[in-house]
Amino acid sequence: MTYIATFNVIEEGGNSVEDWWPGEPSEPQWRRQLDHAENQLHQGAWAAAVDAAGAPELHNSARALWLMARALDAGAEARRDNRMLARAIAAYFRLLKMADGLSDARLLSITNRTIDRVYFQGTYLSAEPIYRLLIRRFPNEPAYHNNLTISFLMANRADLAEGVLKETLRRWPDDQVALAHYGFVLKTQHNRLEEAVDLFEKALKDDSGPACEARFYYHLGDALLLLGRFPEAHMVHKRGAALGHFLSPSQRSLYNVPRLKSQPWWDVSQTPYSNLARALEASWRKILQEGEAARALYEQEKEGLREKGEWSQLDLFVRGQEVPGRCKRAPVTCGIVRAEPAAASCRRGQIKFSLIEPGTHVRPHVGPTNCRLRMHLGLSNTTGTYLRVDRETRQWREGKVLLFDDSFEHEVWHNGTRPRLVLIVDVWHPALTPAERRSLPAI
Ligand code: LMR
Ligand code: MN
Repeated sequence: MTYIATFNVIEEGGNSVEDWWPGEPSEPQWRRQLDHAENQLHQGAWAAAVDAAGAPELHNSARALWLMARALDAGAEARRDNRMLARAIAAYFRLLKMADGLSDARLLSITNRTIDRVYFQGTYLSAEPIYRLLIRRFPNEPAYHNNLTISFLMANRADLAEGVLKETLRRWPDDQVALAHYGFVLKTQHNRLEEAVDLFEKALKDDSGPACEARFYYHLGDALLLLGRFPEAHMVHKRGAALGHFLSPSQRSLYNVPRLKSQPWWDVSQTPYSNLARALEASWRKILQEGEAARALYEQEKEGLREKGEWSQLDLFVRGQEVPGRCKRAPVTCGIVRAEPAAASCRRGQIKFSLIEPGTHVRPHVGPTNCRLRMHLGLSNTTGTYLRVDRETRQWREGKVLLFDDSFEHEVWHNGTRPRLVLIVDVWHPALTPAERRSLPAI
């Protein structure tokens, strides 16, 4: 079998080959087979298209590979079949090996779909070779550098993102997207807050431009709070709220359902959680015992929220799932929270013991979502401890429940003399529908 050579001109900064497929078979019979496979795919007959495009005689044909990849992709979606998705992605990658023979338009439609599927699969690092290919093909386009940075960050590889960011900013020192991401990396990985603030300020200049996203306003404001630059932080929070990035200057969670009632402090009687609160209060001594007996398992708070002091926690439920084995250590506590599905299966929250040592100050911060309310059951040594939520400060009491919305700015002081223990129980915001509780992504 012979092949028609289909590509020749490759220019700097793009490829102007005609919209042909490399390796298109010369025999009409095989071309007809590919046309046929294309029709089958259009009609949803993806399995037949896989067979037709998979003929050994077609294995150098880019069009056959494209059909194969799309047919497997369609099949994977129809069947929700992850193995078939992996085969589709492998076929897209084989096709991308022929990138030099593909037109820009065709290359971009293939890379877009491949990246989309790779992200869907959650294997963010495998997008790297695709972005490297696009960077080689479009060397003057910072967007591909930035997208590579983002895929590294999604893969939790800030170290790799940092390398790309440095290179990007060397070439495009004023690129606002790169500036914002570099600010993010400096703040979250290296605690280099002053530099991060400067970068964010450039990136968000005039409140316009491609980096004007909620999370960068959030991190700029947060860096200013951590630096104790409160009036500037407040200005940023006001700007962010005016732009619609925050629900309000003090309610700055990023994962929100906008219609939900917003108030910093709640009365349990405003919610369907009175039974839960009563049950917790009725058993508080037993819950305290369980919390104290498991002290060896507590872990230090790691988010850097403490200005000073010590804070440790023991998770019982995370994202609506029991941490394996934990309920054996706290059977009474778990029994009570399990009786309220809005607590035990709250996928946007946790259930945990929280222990704060005397002398601790937890800086002003916000939780990630407005989809939960946070119930605290005071357990021990609450004297001299304070919780500010937005503008109102309250105190815990042993055996009593507090209820607040932690998407509002809050702050904790322990000015007492002995370690304070509370049980934290997150519950779904009462206004969320059952369908929302089932389908909102976990946090
Ligand atoms: C917080 O969630 O920030 C604090 O309220 C936790 C705690 O133990 O007080
Ligand atoms: Mn908090």
